[in-house]
Amino acid sequence: MDLHVNLVDRKDLSGEIYRQIRRAMAEGLLRPGELLPPTRHLARRLMVSRTTVTIAYERLAAGGFVTSRIGAGTFVSDDAARSSALHRFPAEGALRARTVWDSIRLPTTFDRPARYDFRTGLPSLELFPHRAWQRLVRHALRPGLFAAGVYQEPAGHRGLREAIARHVGMSRGVSAVAENITITNGAQQALDILARTLLAPGDRIAVEDPGYQLPRRLFESLGLETVGVRVDRDGLVVEAIPSGVRAVYVTPSHQYPLGVTMSLARRQSLLSWAERTNAAIIEDDYDGEFRFGGRPVDALQTLDSAGRVVYVGSFSKVMLPTLRLGFLITPPSISRAAQAAKYVTDWNTSLLTQVALASFIEEGDFARHLRRVGAAYQERHDIIADSLRRDFADHLELLPSNAGLHLTALARGATSQEIIAITQKAAGRGLAFHPLSMFTVENAPLAGVALGYGAIATDDIEEGLRLLRACFQARTC
Ligand SMILES: Cc1ncc(COP(=O)(O)O)c(C=O)c1O
Repeated sequence: MDLHVNLVDRKDLSGEIYRQIRRAMAEGLLRPGELLPPTRHLARRLMVSRTTVTIAYERLAAGGFVTSRIGAGTFVSDDAARSSALHRFPAEGALRARTVWDSIRLPTTFDRPARYDFRTGLPSLELFPHRAWQRLVRHALRPGLFAAGVYQEPAGHRGLREAIARHVGMSRGVSAVAENITITNGAQQALDILARTLLAPGDRIAVEDPGYQLPRRLFESLGLETVGVRVDRDGLVVEAIPSGVRAVYVTPSHQYPLGVTMSLARRQSLLSWAERTNAAIIEDDYDGEFRFGGRPVDALQTLDSAGRVVYVGSFSKVMLPTLRLGFLITPPSISRAAQAAKYVTDWNTSLLTQVALASFIEEGDFARHLRRVGAAYQERHDIIADSLRRDFADHLELLPSNAGLHLTALARGATSQEIIAITQKAAGRGLAFHPLSMFTVENAPLAGVALGYGAIATDDIEEGLRLLRACFQARTC
């Protein structure tokens, strides 16, 4: 690529060329070993004499920033990066971000570092249908569709919306037509779109406490006021929702992180609350495809007859989070606005993955995949549940949970601080899991642990739990 040098209205042309090449080195645009443009070419491009460029190059060579090899050209030297680093961007800029961003910590681990990985929210990489997916992505790349190279409908690929409508109808009893489905980059973008569609800065939104932290942070960044509402074994405690709340965000199929399923009575009470207060309900069904017994309870969206529930789905747990595919099902009254919000946000989700996923669902691969991973997850769920009841009875009380990708247990004696200490020690022994306190919103942190079984191989669970027990018995390990 040609190096950009701007000489418009400049006087000391050699000096300018020198300074701008130095800056390109400092900013990492020109890296050690890279070839500078030949003096003749650069001179022609900049419409200056060759001598002007040669003087600049000689200055660079004198400073040790470049080395010349006869017949080969002028190269950025290894020393250039070192000496230029001192002249990198100024430490501070004049711009200041809004203070809301100060409170949001960036994630730091992007790999699967632990030998025994019980972190929540991660599906199995081994069980992902890599071969089928590669075939479908290759197919989706065919000219005429992906390669048409034009922006697409903001609502998403029609084939995928129709496939999702059928899938949620069959598996979750959720009724939807393609017109009311918007494909998003994961559930997180669905929530962003909904917040923009339904709420204005200053509006109050209730979230579960303990709960999933990312949506709360998102809502706050959009200028909404979030309030944490207690959760018990029946799900969100509806009577605890304060007044003035315009919307509530809930995970009724498998509360995150407690793992409980919202009871039918609680669902009805939440719907009545929404009716009474003219509020919206955002139902996040992120891992509800996996159920291991117990009678399935109808989704809030299914029970809703007034059009107050928006259903959010994600393919992060049933497929992989790296696909960034999710969707929302809106009541018809807000579908157009939600699609407009998607349009102004990022126009449309990558067509490639949408087309591949549509074929994956349509060809029956998805249903087969769900059966296969569902059976594996059930086995892992049962092993962990049995062990928690049997081997951890003195330390932990398992909360009832028949769905999803994690189990949660409350500490019987340990404080939340002690659980954090155990978590940290355990990490040193190659064991990763989340303490319940990290899901706190505003109530006192709960002492307990959430154990995911998506990432850990079935054969590793027993040894992982043995280590965990050692950590609990010693209160440290
Ligand atoms: C409660 C909850 N909802 C949704 C998601 C999935 O979000 P996304 O689809 O943006 O990956 C997660 C992921 O951990 C989650 O815990």
